[in-house]
Amino acid sequence: RVFEKVREYLCGFEGMEVFDIGCGNGKMVFEALKEFSSVRYFGIDRSKAMIEETKQRCPYSDSEFMATDIYSFATERMFDRIFLCHVLHLLDKKEAILTFVKKHLKKQGRCVITLHSKDDAPKKRDWIQWFKNQYQKTYQNNHGNVTIETWPSLFGTKFEPVVAECVRGNIQLSEASPYLAYLETERHRFHPDPTEEEWNAFLLYVQNEIESSIKEQGFFDEEQRYGVLVLENAS
Ligand SMILES: C[S@@+](CC[C@H](N)C(=O)[O-])C[C@H]1O[C@@H](n2cnc3c(N)ncnc32)[C@H](O)[C@@H]1O
Repeated sequence: RVFEKVREYLCGFEGMEVFDIGCGNGKMVFEALKEFSSVRYFGIDRSKAMIEETKQRCPYSDSEFMATDIYSFATERMFDRIFLCHVLHLLDKKEAILTFVKKHLKKQGRCVITLHSKDDAPKKRDWIQWFKNQYQKTYQNNHGNVTIETWPSLFGTKFEPVVAECVRGNIQLSEASPYLAYLETERHRFHPDPTEEEWNAFLLYVQNEIESSIKEQGFFDEEQRYGVLVLENAS
């Protein structure tokens, strides 16, 4: 469902210039862009292995890739769409990153941010609440009224939030093995990389959780929460 939300608010077009920051293997953005055939794609990630995978997957001939840390990256290029998919929570200097994004977005360009919760525990936190806590400041005046500062002024820019939504998805399982197999494919996404021993202990924990839930209620309900935030460069 997170892809549907991204597509809904992307307002993409053929030939658009797309910048994918922390692209990983590119899967997320390629899925979101699948209705377009002539995107000019540029993906960066600090992991060389991820960049190699993105190159293999990329369906666009007019594309560029770079293994680099976003903090040491500089460019003169301007983009129509910039993606920060499941990466902003890993970056400390969020305001600097958003200022960078603002600088490199063309007029009416859009930045798509998708995130799960801060501690990578999507089930436990409501992402939107987390985002608000990070970026909205509340002030209490002497009459006791509370003012909430809005996102555009916080960024010091004319970014207009187009949408901020918490997207939920549910998967109901009647046995543990498909979920464990899915986790195995997502293993490289865990930060920091778990050791073999930690990983096996984690899988065992997940298996026990699923099996005890199936015993109790006949199925295991995995709720996932993602946030989608789309910002538009109004100026
Ligand atoms: C959870 S993955 C998300 C990948 C992809 N965007 C997606 O949604 O499938 C986060 C990615 O951000 C990259 N990353 C983390 N910190 C980074 C940084 N400072 N500069 C560039 N890439 C970074 C990691 O290497 C990793 O591939």
